[in-house]
Amino acid sequence: MCGIVAYIGEKQAYPILIKGLQRLEYRGYDSAGVALLNGQLNIYKCKGKVSDLKAHVNGTVKEGTLGMGHTRWATHGAPNDINAHPHLSESKNLAIIHNGIIENYASLKEALIQRGFSFKTETDTEVLINLIEDIKQKEQVDLEHAVRIALNQVVGAYAIVVMSKDNPDTLIAAKKSSPLVIGIGQDEYFLASDATPIIEYTKNVVYLEDEEMAIITRGEDIVMKTIQNQPVTPYIEELQMNLEALEKGGYDHFMLKEIFEQPQSIYDSLRGRMSSKEGTILLGGIKDYVQKFVAAKRIIFIACGTSWHSGLVAEYLFEDLARIPVEVEYASEFRYRNPVLYEDDIVIAISQSGETADTLAALELAKSKGATVIGICNVVGSTIARKTDAGCYTHAGPEIGVASTKAFTAQLAVLSLMALHIAQARGSITESRYRGFLTALAQIPKKVEEVLQQNDAIKAIAEKYKDAKNCLYLGRGYNFPVALEGALKFKEITYVHAEGYPAAEMKHGPIALIDEQMPVVVIATNESAYEKIVSNIQEVKARKGNIIAIVTEGDTQIKAIADFTIEIPHTIEELTPILSVVPLQLLAYHVAVMLGCHVDQPRNLAKSVTVE
Ligand code: F6R
Repeated sequence: MCGIVAYIGEKQAYPILIKGLQRLEYRGYDSAGVALLNGQLNIYKCKGKVSDLKAHVNGTVKEGTLGMGHTRWATHGAPNDINAHPHLSESKNLAIIHNGIIENYASLKEALIQRGFSFKTETDTEVLINLIEDIKQKEQVDLEHAVRIALNQVVGAYAIVVMSKDNPDTLIAAKKSSPLVIGIGQDEYFLASDATPIIEYTKNVVYLEDEEMAIITRGEDIVMKTIQNQPVTPYIEELQMNLEALEKGGYDHFMLKEIFEQPQSIYDSLRGRMSSKEGTILLGGIKDYVQKFVAAKRIIFIACGTSWHSGLVAEYLFEDLARIPVEVEYASEFRYRNPVLYEDDIVIAISQSGETADTLAALELAKSKGATVIGICNVVGSTIARKTDAGCYTHAGPEIGVASTKAFTAQLAVLSLMALHIAQARGSITESRYRGFLTALAQIPKKVEEVLQQNDAIKAIAEKYKDAKNCLYLGRGYNFPVALEGALKFKEITYVHAEGYPAAEMKHGPIALIDEQMPVVVIATNESAYEKIVSNIQEVKARKGNIIAIVTEGDTQIKAIADFTIEIPHTIEELTPILSVVPLQLLAYHVAVMLGCHVDQPRNLAKSVTVE
């Protein structure tokens, strides 16, 4: 949450900062601002999106080869012009941008008020910059020292960049629990919350670790230290990302592009890891942990949102194939529940961004109790990926649309492969089921492509239901989590209430909601519970509900009773979620577009939830 970007070099900083903020806008978009140093320390900021900031700045002088920018997702204080970052210190000599939360800001603020400081904003960030200024003046130290002393006094999470009118050639950056990466160019440096604003200038980056600071001076090598003043040698990595992956490529929205990328992103997530011909699986990231899985008494998945839904599908997969008991936990509940954990537990954190604060805290808790911690992340080099003992990347490529789509199906592909691999290692699966599963998995990208060909038909269904005020999503077994995911996708981008339920639970309550106004989306592709789901559909029809059914191609029975059907190609039941979720993503997308919603940046949401 919140995107930060900074530049120091020989070029004009403003265009680089604005472009960078646009790339980071998925992280937060309620206000934006930039600071430029050019003799003067000039700050431009306003409520709204980066495009509003551009309009606001238009016509004013935007010079400076050192600068920083911020796009905000409000935590402390309403999203308005005043609370937008960057924030100035009392003397107006120092400026800061910040991603995170300073938890002890109230007591620090009180002490600063006693010392004569006044505050113009409601933010915790203004407290931090005044704390730095106070230390600088009181202790008569330079900026680097003052930042270091201040960071030893704050409790909470931060990625910060600080600049000073008196140090026109230096940026100071630091991080704890919020991500920060430095790009190293030719006579220039970049700082950003992730590598997306940096990639078009350089592939050489350094990821800061928690409690590390960087002192970046024009024309000099980076100096890195811990906030305890221990020297750190910068570890320079090469980015694997490419620029095209960050553009819309002719689609109206990133979300639509990402839905259509799924055949490729699933393929990329499986590529090199399996051969259906040879019957082999190679998951390099967990190869040293397979015996731990074999011996495991329990697997616990921790995740949030869509990634939590992947965990639910994984519960079916690991129990069904590998016969290991599984629990699936909301990371935010798990971390505060004093959970019972054993050293032979395997805890798997699932996260697209690899930065979700609750998931990170939950995995740290599991690690502290001695459990083996495995990560399934999409963003290479992300904090969760680095903090886990081992893991598998999903390789879905950058997901920019705030509503997760291709990351979900990539997670399902990797989790399916992992469950199958562990099942084989445990001897809990027959050779013919194992082989059949691998063959079916290899065919999935092609089958997703077939589902996507029904986009126009799905759009026509969306037209019929765009005015619905509530929607119910039902599924059973492997497709119960898909019902939850379909409902989440629908509500987060259309702002229309939608609820997912296990189909058989409907009669225990939600059936009371059903009338002729109520669209009920039923995922009815399960072979094992087919007759039961037909009965659930009949129960809805008997109450005049409208059925949109996701069925397997060639289905005639449900077609005869549902109002609309969307077919998916046949596959084994365990893999149906990867296909059945795709029409639900498209349905949500088209309704949101028809309702005029901001599909890629839905209100109140942010892509990477780095606060709890
Ligand atoms: C929903 C969505 C969120 C995320 C959740 C976890 O479309 O995007 O629910 O799934 O915030 O994020 P990650 O996977 O980055 O940990």
